[in-house]
Amino acid sequence: MTIRAYHRDRGDARRTVVLIPSSAHGTNPASATMAGLKVAVTACDAHGYVDLADLRAKAGQYRDTLAALMVTYPSTHGVFEEDIREICDIVHEHGGQVYMDGANMNAQVGLTSPAAIGADVCHLNLHKTFAIPHGGGGPGMGPIAVAAHLAPYLPGHPAVRVGGEKAIPAISAAPWGSASILLISYGYVRMLGAGGLTDATRYAILNANYIKARLAGHYDELYANHNGRVAHEMIFDLRPFKHGTGPSVDEQDVAKRLMDYGFHAPTVSFPVAGTMMIEPTESEAKDELDRFCDALIAIRGEIQAVMDGRVDARDNVLKNAPHTAEEVSGNVWTHSYTREQAAYPLPFVRANKVWPAVGRIDNPYGDRNLICACPPIEMYEELEAKT
Ligand SMILES: Cc1ncc(COP(=O)(O)O)c(C=O)c1O
Repeated sequence: MTIRAYHRDRGDARRTVVLIPSSAHGTNPASATMAGLKVAVTACDAHGYVDLADLRAKAGQYRDTLAALMVTYPSTHGVFEEDIREICDIVHEHGGQVYMDGANMNAQVGLTSPAAIGADVCHLNLHKTFAIPHGGGGPGMGPIAVAAHLAPYLPGHPAVRVGGEKAIPAISAAPWGSASILLISYGYVRMLGAGGLTDATRYAILNANYIKARLAGHYDELYANHNGRVAHEMIFDLRPFKHGTGPSVDEQDVAKRLMDYGFHAPTVSFPVAGTMMIEPTESEAKDELDRFCDALIAIRGEIQAVMDGRVDARDNVLKNAPHTAEEVSGNVWTHSYTREQAAYPLPFVRANKVWPAVGRIDNPYGDRNLICACPPIEMYEELEAKT
C-alpha cells in the first residue's frame, strides 16, 4: 500500500501490477491482492533461480503498469539468488519498486542487508528472525522498513501521530501494532549485540550446510548454488519414493515417522509439493542436529526396505507412524514389525522418548471437512441436571 501511494503521488496511478516469482510464499500474492494490486507470476529456472529472461519479458510487458516485484532473498528454494542485484535493477528500469520478503532475514542479518541488493521495502518477521514466539504462541509482528523515498507514505493512525507526512491510513488498530511483544525483539537485539546477531546468521547458514553434508548420499537436495552450498535452509526431494502403484512412501509418511523419533517434522510440500524443507536455524546444538540427521538416515533405510519389498508395502513403520504409547503397550499387536522398531528405532530415542498423543490422522480430510465441535445446548442442560 505504501508503494501504491508512492506511485499515485507521482501521478502514476496505473502502476498496479506486482510481479511475483513462482517460488514465492502464498502470503506474497495474498498481500498484493489485499493491497488492491494485480499479480503476474514470473518463472523460475531449473536451478530454482528467478528466470531472468522471463522477468525481463514480463517487466517489459507491464512497463507502463508495473508497481513492484515481491522477491524473497535468500529465496524459498534456500539459495542466495546470485543475480539478485540485476533482478532489482530490471524492476527499477521499468518503473517498479522492489519489495523484499524478509522471511529469510536470519540468513542476512549482519552479513548483508536489503538495501545492499537494492530493495525499496522489506518486512521483518520479528516472530522469526527476531525471537518473538512463532506459530501457536504468536502473535506475529511484521513491520516494514523502507528506503527514504517511501518514508512519507508509511501508515498513519487517526488517534496517535505516527507515519509519514503523506501517510496512508492505519493498517493496524493500534498505532504500533502489538507493541508489548516488540520488547522481545528489542531484548534479543540488545542482548546479542551486533556480533551476536551476526554469529546467529553464520550459525543458521552453517547448520543448514552441515545437515546438507550429513544427508548427502541419503537424500537428494533440490537446489544448491554453484559451490554446492545452500543458504539457511534446503529442500530434500522425496518424490522419487512416491509411486502410484507398487511400494510407495511419501512426505507425509516421513513427517509422521519423525514423530516416533521425537521430532516435529520440518515444512512439507512447500515450496515444492512432495518435498521436505529443512531450516535448522541457529538455535539447535550440534548434538540435536546430529540426532535429527541420524533419524533421517535411519528413516531412509526404512524407506529402502519398503522400496525393495523387504517389508509389507502397507503394514510398515512408515505407513503406520506415528505410534502412540497406548498402541505400543496394548495387549494386541498385529503388525509385521516389532514394538521396539515402532517406538524405539534408535538408542537416543529410548533416552528421551516423546510419545505422540494421537496416531495417524488424515490431514487433508481434516482441512476439507469442517467438523463442528460445539455440543448442543441440551448437553449443558443434562450436565447441569446431573451436578
Ligand atoms: C518466504 C516466506 N514468506 C512469508 C512467509 C509467511 O510468514 P508468516 O508466518 O510470518 O506469515 C513464510 C513462512 O514461512 C515464508 O517462508
